[in-house]
Amino acid sequence: MTTSHHYDVLVVGSGAAGLSLALQLPASYQCAVLSKSQIASGSTFWAQGGMAAVLHDRDSLDAHVEDTLNAGAGLCHEDAVRFTVSKARGIVDWLVEQGVRFDYRVDMPDDEFREFHLTMEGGHTHRRILHAADQTGRAISEVLMQRSTDASNITLLPDFCVVDLIHDGHKCNGAYVLETKTNQVHTFTARAVVLATGGASKAYMYTSNPDGASGDGIATAWRAGCRVANMEFNQFHPTCLYHPEAKSFLITEALRGEGAKLLLPNGEPFMERFDARGELASRDIVARAIDHEMKRLGLDCVYLDISHRPADFVKHHFPTVYQRCLGFGIDITTERIPVVPAAHYTCGGVVVDQFGASDLPGLYVVGETACTGLHGANRMASNSLLECFVYAHSAAEHIAEMNHSRPQDQPASWDDSRVRDSDENVIITHQWQALRRLMWDYVGIVRSDRRLEFAKNAITLMREEIDGYYGRFQITRPLLELRNLAQVAALTVECALTRRESRGLHFNQDHPQRNDLAVNSILSPEKWPSNMLDTGFKQHLPPYS
Ligand code: FAD
Ligand code: SIN
Repeated sequence: MTTSHHYDVLVVGSGAAGLSLALQLPASYQCAVLSKSQIASGSTFWAQGGMAAVLHDRDSLDAHVEDTLNAGAGLCHEDAVRFTVSKARGIVDWLVEQGVRFDYRVDMPDDEFREFHLTMEGGHTHRRILHAADQTGRAISEVLMQRSTDASNITLLPDFCVVDLIHDGHKCNGAYVLETKTNQVHTFTARAVVLATGGASKAYMYTSNPDGASGDGIATAWRAGCRVANMEFNQFHPTCLYHPEAKSFLITEALRGEGAKLLLPNGEPFMERFDARGELASRDIVARAIDHEMKRLGLDCVYLDISHRPADFVKHHFPTVYQRCLGFGIDITTERIPVVPAAHYTCGGVVVDQFGASDLPGLYVVGETACTGLHGANRMASNSLLECFVYAHSAAEHIAEMNHSRPQDQPASWDDSRVRDSDENVIITHQWQALRRLMWDYVGIVRSDRRLEFAKNAITLMREEIDGYYGRFQITRPLLELRNLAQVAALTVECALTRRESRGLHFNQDHPQRNDLAVNSILSPEKWPSNMLDTGFKQHLPPYS
């Protein structure tokens, strides 16, 4: 039996983007915020380094714009960059008003003139990273969650996983949503729907991201007919902890910002050989340099060393990294940290305008799920949280201004009468592993035409099997995520094959040069029907009944 719900705004995702959008809506708007597991399960909670904002006298908006454009390797939209950067100070004020406590400089008196402590990260030419030690995401998440819980117009719904959007091709009217604790599918209708579901780095075997980063919003919007862009630019963070028991633990770039050096096992620094900025080159360059050295010397990892800084400084600025490494027997105040690159951030996503509006009226996409034009071919460190807040605020304003109408017709109920319980869930686990291994090996930091073609064929076969499975069996969260990941993997490979050059995060050894005429890769569902194997509500109309 389907339960129906109606809200003014349905927000899918409870990270920085989703929660801040909900909080910015007029209080008269009833709003539901869904999360497919706990409310704090997205990447936001794990963000370490901080949020970029021009706050220092010697810094300038122009410098932040220029650094972002440089990191983006010629594919950023300058308007989007300027828009985002210019809103940063207002966002900082808003966050502080909500109750977020960023770190202040300890060398300044504790009065109204004290300044925030600003740290450095790769690609930035100035200190401009506002942070709460190395737990910035947690500090932000906890405050936004509390504010949302307190707001009488916001209903937080954990363990609700969106299956697909409800739309008539002209307007988005809601979504079908699986309640994962009961396996019941609910129908949500809304005047406006917001996808804030985070990124898709779980498509790769090794990632810094939490488990839910399966690209659900990108796949869902694509199935609803929205364009998707720049999926080949998946960012690999240079430094994740290399330890057999450490799952997805990031070693923040701010360590390099505060002087940490990357070393080979014999203690030799190597970054200067790749870029004059050394450890503070942009992330694409550092990750590729590490990958190069690991392959050249047959290494399992390289090392990051901050032991030359005073122990108190390290413990004060990086308490999370210090404690976590200590838990694995590594004292970072005296020892080097074994690190490897891992998939970290999805620069591409659903194409949106300055208000987060997608191609489908009534559907907004914000945060890591969106492609706003800010990041181009490579996101600069700490620009992501900023983008989440800036676009969440402008989308909230736009939703209020547009005053979208309530859907007139009640959508068809979810019909799963012709599907049955899966008898072999292990197939889903196997496909997950195979897909992530394939993406890591064939669509990773260094690519080639042959590897991409191989990946394309393998993913097509996998998707046929997954779609067959989806048409036959009851949906579960792992099945939905696998279906979405496979869709995102197909889009990533399609974008990578289309780009016959190397730039930013996309390096193809068969086309190692940059082509200055190349543009953003924009895929449209109408133009790429082969990518739409799955046309939507197969649970409604199972082809294999
Ligand atoms: P998320 O915070 O990822 O939230 C996604 C939400 O969507 C979750 O609530 C999830 O449950 C929900 N969801 C997903 N799919 C569904 C579905 N089908 N149905 C219902 N709900 C769904 N960026 C910076 O700028 N500075 C940093 O210091 C920084 N550090 C980082 C450190 C780590 C370890 C990681 C992983 C990322 C870091 N980033 C950083 C990137 C940044 O944290 C993310 O890009 C940003 O937090 C994304 O926010 P979001 O709101 O878009 O999504
Ligand atoms: C980090 O702290 O290194 C992550 C920063 C980011 O992804 O922007």
